[in-house]
Amino acid sequence: MKIAIGSDHAAPEMKAQLIAHLQARGIEITDMGAFPQDEGKYEYPVIGYRTAKAVASGQFDAGVLVCGTGVGISLAANKVKGIRACVCSEPYTARLSKEHNNANIIAIGARVVGAEMAKAIVDAWLDAEFMGGRHARRVDLINEIDATGGLSNES
Ligand code: RB5
Repeated sequence: MKIAIGSDHAAPEMKAQLIAHLQARGIEITDMGAFPQDEGKYEYPVIGYRTAKAVASGQFDAGVLVCGTGVGISLAANKVKGIRACVCSEPYTARLSKEHNNANIIAIGARVVGAEMAKAIVDAWLDAEFMGGRHARRVDLINEIDATGGLSNES
């Protein structure tokens, strides 16, 4: 499995801890920045967009994003077609974000949860499987909005 991971200036330590954790699970990780040479100035929309584009292109199976709250970086990622980025602060939501929403990016707030909780969140998401069925119908509706800007059954 290949995962792209990115963080803004608020979360380099948590990103490093998650990289080590994911590598220990045998996952191939690519760091999408921000990098030390960015001198802490890389903004979350840049990293969210860069990571989401790489996931949407099929280059990676999934993505992990970290900023202060997880909110800004997920908002940027969700602007990329085909991306379903979910902010999670605990493992239950993380599991359901895959089972029900087929989230292909998980976003975490480094100022919201600690490193051990972040690892548990990522594990719950990775260990879960999309359930399909009625959930597929709903995700298809999200995909329709994503692809066309609307829903054919809604005026
Ligand atoms: C940066 O201070 C902070 O706004 C950012 O990391 C993130 O929390 C935005 O949603």
